[in-house]
Amino acid sequence: MNDAPIGMFDSGIGGLTVMKAVMRRLPAESIYYFGDNARGPYGPRNLPEIRDFSLEIASFLEAMGVKLIVIACNSATSAGLLEVQRKCQVPVLGVVEPGARGAVQATLNRRIGVIGTIATIKSRAYLKAIRALDAGASIHSRACPSLVGFVERGEVGGTDIEEEVRRYLRPLLKRRIDTMVLGCTHYPLIHEVIADAMGDSVNVISSDEEIAREVEENLSRRGYLRSPHKTPSYRFMCSGSVEQAIRLGRLFLGPEVERVEKVDLPLPGVPA
Ligand code: DGL
Repeated sequence: MNDAPIGMFDSGIGGLTVMKAVMRRLPAESIYYFGDNARGPYGPRNLPEIRDFSLEIASFLEAMGVKLIVIACNSATSAGLLEVQRKCQVPVLGVVEPGARGAVQATLNRRIGVIGTIATIKSRAYLKAIRALDAGASIHSRACPSLVGFVERGEVGGTDIEEEVRRYLRPLLKRRIDTMVLGCTHYPLIHEVIADAMGDSVNVISSDEEIAREVEENLSRRGYLRSPHKTPSYRFMCSGSVEQAIRLGRLFLGPEVERVEKVDLPLPGVPA
C-alpha cells in the first residue's frame, strides 16, 4: 500500500476529464492536479517548448512526493513523455497510447480519425501509436486549433462551437472512418457536439477511461493502491488565474474544486 497522491497535469482544465475518470474508478486515491493556465494553451507552441514545460511540472510534482505521474494532456504527452519518463524516478503515464489502443480495439473497418491540437497532430504521436498496434490501420488526422479556446472560456455548447466543430470534421467524414479518437483532453467536454457532428456511424473514443484503467493496473501490480476505505484528498494548483481555474474546475469536475493554489513560475523545487 502507498498512500502518496497521484500527480496529474495539463495546460489548463482539460486534464480534469482524466482526473474525473480516475476519481470514478479509484475513489480512494488522492490526486494533486496542476493546470498550467499561465502558459496554456500548449497546442500552438513548438514541441521542444512543451517538452520543457512538461519536464518542469513533472519534476515539481515529483518533489511533492507523488507516487505516479499522469500527463493528462495529449500535447505534453506527444512532446515530452519519453523525456519525462527518463528524468523521473516515479512511473509516468501518457494519454496517447491508451487512446490509440481504445481506437484500434473499437474500429470495425480499421479506418480511424484523430483530432487534436496542432502540436499533437504535428508530432505524429497517434500515427505511431496506432501503427504500433495495427500496422495496417488507415489513419486520418486533423488539427482543430480553436476548440481548446472555446472550452477554456466555458463555451461548450451553442451554434458557434457547433459550426466550428462541423467545419473541422467535414473532411474526416468523407474518409469513411468508423472510429474517431479525441486526441485532446479538453475535447471530452464537448463530446456531444463532436458526436452529433460525426453521426451515429462513428464511434467517438476518448482516452480518459482507458487511462484510468491503466492507472489502476499500474498501481495494483505494484501494490500501491490505497485502502478502499480511505478518504482521498485532492489538491488543485495552477500557474495563472485562480478565479478562472475555480470557476471552470467546478463546472467541469464538480464541488471537489473548493480551493485552487496559485504557484508562480518558474515552479519551485525543480533542480536546475
Ligand atoms: N488538453 C491538452 C491536450 O490534450 C492541451 C490543449 C492545449 O493546451 O492546447 O492536448
